[in-house]
Amino acid sequence: MGFYQRHLFFCLNEREDGKQCCNQGGQAAAAFHAAKKQAKALGIHGEGQVRVNRSGCLGRCSEGPLAVVYPEGVWYTYVDEQDVREIVESHLRDGLPVERLRI
Ligand code: FES
Repeated sequence: MGFYQRHLFFCLNEREDGKQCCNQGGQAAAAFHAAKKQAKALGIHGEGQVRVNRSGCLGRCSEGPLAVVYPEGVWYTYVDEQDVREIVESHLRDGLPVERLRI
């Protein structure tokens, strides 16, 4: 087994050229902080469990805001904190990808 069972990455990239990016209006940063806080509250964040990380541009900017879970390689988009909560509880904790949020 790897150091972490699963890794959730949130793209927090911001562009200054006006093109679409994941952290427009701070949405991705808020989602990242909410997910990390929730994973810690659930007691699943840390070595041998899961980790929530920020990332730079993941190259799918027009489909964002984006998050991706490895090792499964499941890509998500999300709208609100409820979506983020579902990704953490269903996928990170229970190992069940959230089909309705997949891209
Ligand atoms: S800005 Fe998020 S994937 Fe490019």
